[in-house]
Amino acid sequence: MTYSAAAILPFLIPLGLVLFSTIRQQSSIQRIPGPPPSSWLLGNMLQLFLPPYGYYDDIWRKAYGTVYRFQGCFGRDRLMVSDPLALQHILNSGEFEFAPIFDTLFRWLFGERNMAVLKGKEHRNLRTAWNAAFTAGAVRQYQPILEKVAQGISEKLDASDSPAIDICPLLSSATVSSTTEVVFGCAVDDLGAEFVESNSNIMASSATQSSAQILVDEFGGLLPSWLFRRTIYLPTKASQALRTHVELASREGWRLVREKMDAVKQGLDGGDDVYSMLLRPDAQTNKSLRPEDIVAQTSVMMIGGSDTTAYTLVWALVELAKNPELQDSLRAEIHGRPRTSRGDVAYDSMPLLNATIKESLRIYPVRPWTYRVATKDTFIPLSQSILSTTGERLSQIQVKKGQLVTLGFASYQKLESRWGEDSGQFKPGRWLESRVPQSDAIGPYANLLAFSGGAHACVGWRLAVLEMQVILSELLDKFTFSLPVEESIEPRYMTNLMPTNADGQKRAAFCVKRVL
Ligand code: HEM
Ligand SMILES: *[C@@H]1O[C@H](CO)[C@@H](O)[C@H](O)[C@H]1NC(C)=O
Ligand SMILES: *[C@@H]1O[C@H](CO)[C@@H](O)[C@H](O)[C@H]1NC(C)=O
Repeated sequence: MTYSAAAILPFLIPLGLVLFSTIRQQSSIQRIPGPPPSSWLLGNMLQLFLPPYGYYDDIWRKAYGTVYRFQGCFGRDRLMVSDPLALQHILNSGEFEFAPIFDTLFRWLFGERNMAVLKGKEHRNLRTAWNAAFTAGAVRQYQPILEKVAQGISEKLDASDSPAIDICPLLSSATVSSTTEVVFGCAVDDLGAEFVESNSNIMASSATQSSAQILVDEFGGLLPSWLFRRTIYLPTKASQALRTHVELASREGWRLVREKMDAVKQGLDGGDDVYSMLLRPDAQTNKSLRPEDIVAQTSVMMIGGSDTTAYTLVWALVELAKNPELQDSLRAEIHGRPRTSRGDVAYDSMPLLNATIKESLRIYPVRPWTYRVATKDTFIPLSQSILSTTGERLSQIQVKKGQLVTLGFASYQKLESRWGEDSGQFKPGRWLESRVPQSDAIGPYANLLAFSGGAHACVGWRLAVLEMQVILSELLDKFTFSLPVEESIEPRYMTNLMPTNADGQKRAAFCVKRVL
C-alpha cells in the first residue's frame, strides 16, 4: 500500500483531523473487554499489525476471548472477531460489506468493475458465471498445464548451484504463469511487457505495513468514500502508476478477449482457458458473459492468485524443512503416485499431501485479517457468550451502522476450542486423525477461513489447492529441502503474510538437494 500512502498522506492529515473531530460518536461496543491502547494516535494498531506477527493477537485472544475490543487510531473502537458463529454471520448475512479501506484499495488496484467491489445481485450474477469455470471438474482440466509449470521450477532449481536458494521468485513466477495459462490461455511472455512489469511493481509496493500506512488507512476510512476514491486523481507519481496499471490491464484484457471472439467467429473451437470458457454460450441458457465483465477481472486475476499461492507453498516448505521425518513420509507418498483410471496423477488420493496443504493454510493464512463494516444497526451472534466489563453475560453483540469489524481468520484457525490444545503447532496429523471440526461448513474449504467465506470467498480456491498439490508433488519428488543454518524465514504481515529474512526483507532461502 505504499502507493496509497505516498499519494495521499500530505492531503489527508489536515482533512482527517477536521473530520475526526466532527464525526466521533459513542461506540456501542464500549463494554466489550479488550486491551488498553498503547497510544491515543495509533491505539493498538502497531501492536496488532507490526512484527512479531500474531504475537499480541494470540495474547489478547487468550486473555479476552473470541471477541475483543481494541483501539484503532484516535481512540476509535474496533472489534476483533474469531468466534465461528460470529464470523459466519458477518460473512453470510449481507449486513456487512468490505470496509472502505479495502473497497477503495481494490478499486485502485483492480479497477471499478472487478468482482471484489461489485455488490448484491450484480456480484452474485458475475460470481455464478465465474464459479462455473472453477468447479472441481473444470479445474481438473488444468492439471497438465500446472504440471508443466511445476516442472519449470525444477529446471530452474537444477540450474542453480547456489548453496542457499531463495525460492520466493521461483514460486512467484510459477504462480503468475499458472494464472496466465489457466485463466487467459497464454504464456506470461505473450502478455504486453509493460503490463507484466506494472503488475509486479504494483504487487511489490502494495506489500507494506508501517505506522504511516496505518494512519493513512484510518484517515481514508474517515472520509466519505466518494472523496477517498477520488484521491487517486491527485497529481502524484504513485496515483499515476495505479491509474496506468488499471488502463494497461484493461487494454490487455480487451486484446485477449477480442482474439478469442475472433477465433469463435471464424468457426474455431476456442481454448479451454477460463476466458474462452466464459465467452462460450452456456449449453442450457444460451447466454454468455458480456465481454466487458470478463475484461474487468484481468487485474484481480493476475494479482489475486499469485503471491497468495506462492507464499502458502513457501510456508509448507518451511515446515517440511523443519521436520525431515514428515518430509520423508510425504515424499514416500508422492513416490507411490496414485493414478486415476485415465492415467493422470490422482492428487486427491494423497492424504498426507492433502493434510500438509490444509495445515499450511491453517497456520499461515496469507490474509490473516480482513475488514468489514456494518451496513445497518444490528447484532452479531456468538457461539460462546462473553462477560461485559460491567459484568453482564452477552450472547450477542450490538453494533451500530458503520462499526468497523476485523475478522480474525488467523485467530479463528488457532482456536483451542476448535483445533485442540496443540492448535498453535504445525501437525498435519490432526487432519488424518480427524481431530478437526467436521460438521459446520464455514469457509469453502476444510472449515478454514484462509479463503474467506460467504459471497466474496476466494473464487480460485480449487485452482489454488490443485496448484499447490501439483507443485509440492513435483518439488518433493525430485528435491530435499532444508533450512540454511545462518538464515531464518519469518512470517511478516505485509497485507499478505510474507516470508522474510531476519532483516525483514522478502526472502525464503533453502538448501535444495536432488533426491538420489
Ligand atoms: C492459496 C492461495 C489463495 C488464498 C489464500 C486466497 C485467499 C483469498 C481471500 C482471503 C479472499 C477474500 C479477500 C478478503 O476478504 O479480503 C480471496 C478473494 C479472491 N481470490 Fe483468492 N486466494 C488464493 C488463490 C487465488 C487464486 C489462484 C485466484 C485466481 C484464479 C484467486 C482469485 C481471487 C479473487 C478474484 C477474489 C475476489 C472474489 C470476490 O470478491 O468475489 N485467489 N482470496
Ligand atoms: C443461441 O443464440 C444464438 C445467437 O444469439 C442463436 O443463433 C441460436 O439459435 C441460439 N440457440 C439456441 C439453442 O437457442
Ligand atoms: C483431500 O481433500 C479433499 C477436500 O477436502 C477431499 O475431497 C479428498 O477426499 C481428500 N483426499 C484424501 C485422500 O484425503
